[in-house]
Amino acid sequence: MKLLVCGGAGFIGSTFVRQRLLEHGDEVAVLDKLTYAGRKENFDDFAESASFRFVHGAIEDAAAVASAIELAAPEAIVNFAAETHVDRSIAEPDAFVKTHALGTYVLLEAARASELRYVQVSTDEVYGSIESGSFTEQSPLAPSSPYSATKAGADLLVQGYFHTYGLRASIARGSNNYGPYQYPEKLIPLMVLNALHGDALPVYGDGMQVRNWIHATDFARAIGDVLEHGVPGEVYNAGGPDEEANIDVVKRIIAATGASESQIEYVRDRPGHDRRYSLSSEKVRALGWEPRVRFAEGLEQTVAWYRDNASWWEPIRSGDYRAYYERQYGRSLA
Ligand code: NAD
Ligand code: TYD
Repeated sequence: MKLLVCGGAGFIGSTFVRQRLLEHGDEVAVLDKLTYAGRKENFDDFAESASFRFVHGAIEDAAAVASAIELAAPEAIVNFAAETHVDRSIAEPDAFVKTHALGTYVLLEAARASELRYVQVSTDEVYGSIESGSFTEQSPLAPSSPYSATKAGADLLVQGYFHTYGLRASIARGSNNYGPYQYPEKLIPLMVLNALHGDALPVYGDGMQVRNWIHATDFARAIGDVLEHGVPGEVYNAGGPDEEANIDVVKRIIAATGASESQIEYVRDRPGHDRRYSLSSEKVRALGWEPRVRFAEGLEQTVAWYRDNASWWEPIRSGDYRAYYERQYGRSLA
C-alpha cells in the first residue's frame, strides 16, 4: 500500500512505519510536526529506504497536509499525530485541543477531498475508568482528562465524517503501550531510566492503579489489520494480554535493573487519576489479530533496550526533559 502516516516520528507511529516498510513492503510518507516527542532518530534504521519519505509539518496546517498528500499520493491516511501525555494535558491543555480537534478535522477534510481510506489511532482512555470487567466498542465515552476528552472529540468527528460523507474511516483504540522508543515521560521508560540512574521512582497516590499493557509492535499490527480488513465506520479495541498495578510494574523494573526498593517514593496523586483501564479485543481478534508479547517478557526486553541504547535517550534526558521533570516532580534528575 501507499500510506501517509501522520505522527509517524513518535513512539508507536515509528513502530508502525518500520513494520509496514519491512514486513509489508508498503511505501510510506510520514507527516510530523516534530514536537518534543517526535524524533527523527526513530527512523535511523530505515531513513535511507527508497520506500520512505519524511515531510515536516503539522496536521492542523492544511497546506502542509495538501503537499504531503501530493508527494505521497497515498491510498490511506493513518493518523497517530497527537499530544499524548496526560500530565502535560493537565498543566497545558492548549496543544491537545489544537492537534486533536483542529488537526483531525484538517486531515478528515483532506481524506474526504481525495476519497482516501482513513484510520484514526485512539486510546482506551476515551472510555474513562472501569472498576471490573473490560470496555467493549459499545461502552459509552466518558473521558476524564483534557488528553482523553480531546481524543474522544477527535473520534466523534471521525464518526461524523463516516455517517455524513461516507468517508471510509475506522478507529483503532489501544490500551497502554510500552516498548523501545517511548519518550521517558511515560511510566515505564521514566522508571527504567530513573532506576538506572539511582533517581527516586515517583509513584502517584497509592500505586494501585491498574493498566492493561500492550507491546507497541502488537498495537501497530492491530492498526495494520484495521487498515486492511476493518469495516469503515467501525471502532476496534486492541488491549494487551496482561494487566498490572503500577507499583508491581515498578517492582518488576527494580528487579530487572538491579535498583533498590528504597528508591520508591510515593508522591501526590495525579488530579482526576483513572483507577483502571481494561479493553476487550474480541472484535479485532475476529480480523485475525492476537497479541504476541506477554508483559513479563516484553518488559525485560524493553529494559534491555533502554540499557543498550543510551545514545537514543541521552539527548532527551540532558535536554528540555530535565526542565519538564523539575516542573512536574518538583525535583531535579541526577
Ligand atoms: P508520541 O507522543 O510518542 O508521538 C506523537 C507524535 O505526533 C510525535 O512524533 C509528534 O511530533 C507528533 N505530533 C504531535 N502533534 C502533531 C501535530 N499537530 N501535527 C503533526 N504531528 C504531530 O505518541 P505515541 O505514544 O506514539 O502515540 C501515538 C498515538 O497513539 C496517539 O494518537 C495516542 O493517542 C495513541 N495511543 C497511545 C497510547 C500509549 O500508551 N502511548 C495508547 C493508546 C493510543
Ligand atoms: P502514563 O505512562 O502517564 O500513562 P496513562 O496515564 O496514559 O495511563 O501513566 C501510567 C500509570 O502510571 C498511570 O496510572 C499514572 C502512573 N504514573 C506514576 O505513578 N508515576 C509517574 O511518574 C508517571 C509518569 C505515571
